[in-house]
Amino acid sequence: MGCSRLLVLGLLLNLAHCSEIVGNGGSEVEIQSNLIAVLGEEVRLRCLYHGNASITGSVWKRLKNTRVHRLAGFVNGTAFRRVARYSYPASPTNLTMQMRVSGLDAEGEYICTFESQDEEFTQSMFLEVHVRPQTTELLVTEEMDNGTHYQSVQCSANDSKPQAQIDWLINNRPPVEDYFSIERSGSFQRNGMSSAGSILRFPTHLQNESSVTCVVHHPTLPSPISTTASVATFVAPRVSVQVEMRQGQEEEEEEDYWRVSCVASGGRPETHISLVTAAAAAAAEEEPRKGNGTDAGISVYRLPVQAYEGRNVSCVFTQPKLPGPQSRTIQLPSFNLSGVQLLANPINEMQPLVELEEGQRNVSIGLEAIGNVPRYAVFCQKEDASPLPSGVAVVGSALTFQAHVDLLHAGLYVCEASYYRHRATVQINITVRPLPVLVPPLISVDLRYGPSDREVECSAVGAVPAATLSWSLPEGLAVVPSVSSHSVTGVLSLGAACYPRALTVGCVIRHPLFPTPEYRSVTIPLCAPPNISLSSRDEWRGGEEYTVAQCRVVSVATAATITWRLGNGDGSGHIVGIDDLEGVDVRTEVEERVSMEVTSVSTVLLPSSLYSGQTLSCEVGGHPSLQRQEQRHLLIPSLEAPVLNVSVGPGESDLWQAVCDYQAEGVKANLTWVLPAGSKGQVSLRSQNDGRTVRAQLTYRFPLASHEGDALTCLVEYQRIGSEKRTVHIPKYYITSLRVLNHTTPMKLHHSDGRCILRLSLQKNLPDQRILFEVEGNVPTHNITCQRSNGSFVQMEGDALGFQSEAKGRDEGLYICLASFYHHKAIVLLQVEVRSQDYQLAALVIICVSSISAMALLLAVALWKQESLAAMTALVQPPCAPESSKALVRRPDSQQYAHVVGYCIVSDVKSTV
Ligand SMILES: *[C@@H]1O[C@H](CO)[C@@H](O)[C@H](O)[C@H]1NC(C)=O
Ligand SMILES: *[C@@H]1O[C@H](CO)[C@@H](O)[C@H](O)[C@H]1NC(C)=O
Ligand SMILES: *[C@@H]1O[C@H](CO)[C@@H](O)[C@H](O)[C@H]1NC(C)=O
Ligand SMILES: *[C@@H]1O[C@H](CO)[C@@H](O)[C@H](O)[C@H]1NC(C)=O
Ligand SMILES: *[C@@H]1O[C@H](CO)[C@@H](O)[C@H](O)[C@H]1NC(C)=O
Ligand SMILES: *[C@@H]1O[C@H](CO)[C@@H](O)[C@H](O)[C@H]1NC(C)=O
Ligand SMILES: *[C@@H]1O[C@H](CO)[C@@H](O)[C@H](O)[C@H]1NC(C)=O
Repeated sequence: MGCSRLLVLGLLLNLAHCSEIVGNGGSEVEIQSNLIAVLGEEVRLRCLYHGNASITGSVWKRLKNTRVHRLAGFVNGTAFRRVARYSYPASPTNLTMQMRVSGLDAEGEYICTFESQDEEFTQSMFLEVHVRPQTTELLVTEEMDNGTHYQSVQCSANDSKPQAQIDWLINNRPPVEDYFSIERSGSFQRNGMSSAGSILRFPTHLQNESSVTCVVHHPTLPSPISTTASVATFVAPRVSVQVEMRQGQEEEEEEDYWRVSCVASGGRPETHISLVTAAAAAAAEEEPRKGNGTDAGISVYRLPVQAYEGRNVSCVFTQPKLPGPQSRTIQLPSFNLSGVQLLANPINEMQPLVELEEGQRNVSIGLEAIGNVPRYAVFCQKEDASPLPSGVAVVGSALTFQAHVDLLHAGLYVCEASYYRHRATVQINITVRPLPVLVPPLISVDLRYGPSDREVECSAVGAVPAATLSWSLPEGLAVVPSVSSHSVTGVLSLGAACYPRALTVGCVIRHPLFPTPEYRSVTIPLCAPPNISLSSRDEWRGGEEYTVAQCRVVSVATAATITWRLGNGDGSGHIVGIDDLEGVDVRTEVEERVSMEVTSVSTVLLPSSLYSGQTLSCEVGGHPSLQRQEQRHLLIPSLEAPVLNVSVGPGESDLWQAVCDYQAEGVKANLTWVLPAGSKGQVSLRSQNDGRTVRAQLTYRFPLASHEGDALTCLVEYQRIGSEKRTVHIPKYYITSLRVLNHTTPMKLHHSDGRCILRLSLQKNLPDQRILFEVEGNVPTHNITCQRSNGSFVQMEGDALGFQSEAKGRDEGLYICLASFYHHKAIVLLQVEVRSQDYQLAALVIICVSSISAMALLLAVALWKQESLAAMTALVQPPCAPESSKALVRRPDSQQYAHVVGYCIVSDVKSTV
C-alpha cells in the first residue's frame, strides 16, 4: 500500500516536470510536450513559432498507421480544422488550439509544423489520456461467523485510467485496529483501463462507530471522493433484578410466590436471559417479553414462597457487548411469626384481658401478628377447642361480636395467626359485665316568650343512662345553642330576632333504648309585617290650626323606624323630609312592649295653613319583615286664603261706624283700627269660629263730625303670614241750603242780616196743595222738618210740606223748615199766605227781618231743638248777604257759590190785587 502511494507521487512529480514549457533545443518552435488529458474534457495543444522566416502555412498533424492526418492549421493565411473537436488555431505562427478528448484514441503523438518558402519547422509532443473512475454505492453485508456477528463494507472504483486507490476512514481515522481486515482487488483491461475494489470487515460488537467512509483517490480528481455508509452497532444492556411478592389465586389453591424479573434494558442486540437457582423446585417462566431495540428485555419467573424462602436466585445475562455471561444474584426474604397481639387494650401482654358490657354493639377485637409475614389468617376457638359461640366470628383479622354482647360470650378464647408453616397463638380472656336497667328519658320541647327574647328549651331528663341531646337548626339561623353540662337540657336563645319565614327548630335525643334518635321540633312563627295606621285631627294652637298626624306602627320584636315626608297632592311632586320644615314638630316614641309586640308612635304637628293641600306620608322601614319601606298617605286639607273687607257708613243711633270684616280658614288674626290721635269712638270686636272657618268683625263707632274727611285703617296681623292693611275714607259732607221749589217772594227783614223770609201763597179752598223743598249739598240723605211759629210740627209728605184739606186762613203763618244730615243743617223761613183766586199781586215786597228779629227766630228754633243750638247758630247766617255767605259756604267751587248766592239775592216781590 505504501509502495503504491509512492508510485502515484512519483508519477505526479513527473507529469509536473513534463508539462513545463521547454524550448526545442534552441530551435524557433516552442511546444508543450507530454501533455495529460482527461477523457471527456478539453485540452489545450500549444505550439508557437518564434523564428524570423516568413511562414506560409502551419499545421497540427498525427501519424496513424503510416498515414499523416492534418488536424488543423493555416493555409494561405486561412485557418482550417478537420472536425469540430478542434478549435481554429490562433494564427499561422501560433498554432495553440483547444481539443475535446472524446475517446481513448486521442492518446498518441501530435506533430506541429510551420512552413516557409524554404524550410519546415517541426516539433512533436505526446498526449496521454486519463479516465476518471466510476464509484458505486457502498454495500454493507452482515454475517455470523462461529457465533460472532460480522459486517463487511464493499467499496469500488471502476473503469479508470490509471487505477484508482481506495482508502477507509472510521471517525476520520484509518482503521488501524486488529479486528479490521481489508481485502483489496483489481483488474486491468487491454485498453489500459482498470478497476479497483476494497472490502472492510469487522466484528460488530468491537466496533462502536455507526458509519464507515470509503475514500477514492485518482489523479483526475481534484479531491478524493468520500462515500459514507451506515453500519450497525451493538449496545450493552443495563441489567437488573426485581422481586415482588404475589398472592396466589385462592380459588385455584395457588400458593403465594415471588415474581422475579430479570431485566436487560437498552441493549442491542437482544440479551439472552436465564435464571439460576439452588432450589429443587422448578421456577416457572412466564411468557417472556422481548426487547425491541430500546425497550427492555424481561424474563419473569414465579418462585413458590415455601420452596424459595431465604434462597439465592441469580439472573444470567448473555449479550455480545457484555464481556461474558453476567450474573445478578438476590436473596429472597425469609419469614418469621413470633406472636399475636391485640390492637387495643393490651392490659396483660401475656394473657390479654378484655372487659365488655352486656348489650354492647359493634365490638371488634383487632388481632395483629408480630413478625414479617406478608399476610396471615386468623382462626379462633374457645379454650376447650370448641367452636366459637354463635354471634361471634373472625372477620378479617378481628374477633367480632356481630350482634349484642351476651353474658354467654365470656370466656377464654385462643386465636392463632398462620402463614404456611409459620404459626403463633394468643389467649384472650373476655369478661362480660352485666347491663344496668335502662330508663328512657322524659322529653319536652317548649317555645317560651321572655320579656325581650324568645327561647326554645329542649330537655330529656330522668334517663339511665343519660340521654344525649343535640340541636338540628335550619340554615341561616345564626344562634349558638347551649347544652347543659349534663347534656339533658338545651336552651336555644333566639333573642329578639325576627325571622321573615317560619323556622322549625329540632331537638335530637339519643338513648340506648331508642333504636333511632328521637326528633322533636317546634316551629317559630314567622314575623308578621308591621301594622301601620295613620290618623289625623285638627287642633287650634296660638291662633293657628295645626294638623296633628299620628303614625302608629305595631310590629313584632323590633321596633320599626318611622320617617315623615311631605309632597305635592298627587304624590308626584318633590318629596321632602319633614324634619327641617318651618313650624313642624315631630315626636316619635316607642310606646309599649307587650310580649313580643312593640308599638311605635310618631306624631307630627304642622300648621295647616303652611302646608295646605300637600300630602303627608308616613314611611315605615327598618323592620326585618319588610323588603322595602311601607307608606301611608294623608292629604292636608286645602285652606282658603283670608278675605278682608272694610266698610264705613251710618250706624246705630246718631253714630257712624267703620267695620273691618275678616274671614279665613285655619288662621286667626288680630284686628286693629288705626285711628287719628285723640279719637274717642268705641271699638268693639265680634269673632266667631265655625270649625276651621274664622270670622271676626271689628267695629269702630264714632260721631260723624269727629272723623269727617279722615282716613281710617284696619290693620290685620296674622300668625306667621304677616299683616295687611285696609283703609276707608270718610267723606266731608256739607249742606249749602234748603231751597223752596215753589214760587216764593223774599221778604227782607234786615239789611245787614240779609236773612230772608220767603213768602208763599196757597190758593184758597183748594185741597192737597204742597210746598216742595230741595236740599243743596253733597249729603247722601237728609231729613226735612217744618214747624209753625207756635212750635207745632207740620206733617211732612217726604220732602214736601203738604196741606191736605182745603186751604184756609188757619194755614197761614210763619213756617220754619229745617233740612238736616247729622250735624249738617240748613233752615228756611216761609211766610205762608192764603189768597183767593182773583187776588192780585200788586207788588213784590221784601220783608227783611232785622237781625234782632232773626235772633228771635233763632231762639224759637233753639226751643224747637235744644241740643242742636250750637249747630243752628253756625247755620243760620244771613243767606241774603253774599259777603257773609262766603264764609259759611266753604266750597272751593266758585260757580256753585255764585249760584247759591244768586238764590238769595233774587227778590220776588209778591203783589196782591
Ligand atoms: C494560395 O494562393 C495562391 C495565390 O493567391 C493561389 O494561387 C493558390 O492556389 C492558393 N493555394 C490554395 C491551396 O488555395
Ligand atoms: C497563442 O494563441 C493562444 C490562443 O489564442 C493565445 O492564448 C496565446 O497568447 C498566443 N500566444 C502568443 C505568443 O501570441
Ligand atoms: C470458534 O470460536 C471458538 C471460541 O472463540 C474457538 O475456540 C474456535 O476455535 C473457533 N472455531 C473456528 C473454526 O474458528
Ligand atoms: C417497541 O418499543 C417501543 C418503545 O418502547 C414501543 O412503543 C413499541 O410498541 C415496541 N414495539 C413492539 C413490537 O413491542
Ligand atoms: C379471666 O379473668 C378473670 C378476671 O380477671 C379471672 O377471674 C379469671 O380467672 C380469668 N380466667 C382465666 C381462664 O384465666
Ligand atoms: C294678637 O294679640 C295678642 C294679644 O295682644 C298677642 O299675644 C298675639 O301675639 C297677637 N297675635 C299676632 C299674630 O300678632
Ligand atoms: C208748588 O209747586 C208744585 C209743582 O210745581 C205744584 O204742584 C203745587 O201746587 C204748588 N203749590 C202751590 C201752593 O202753589
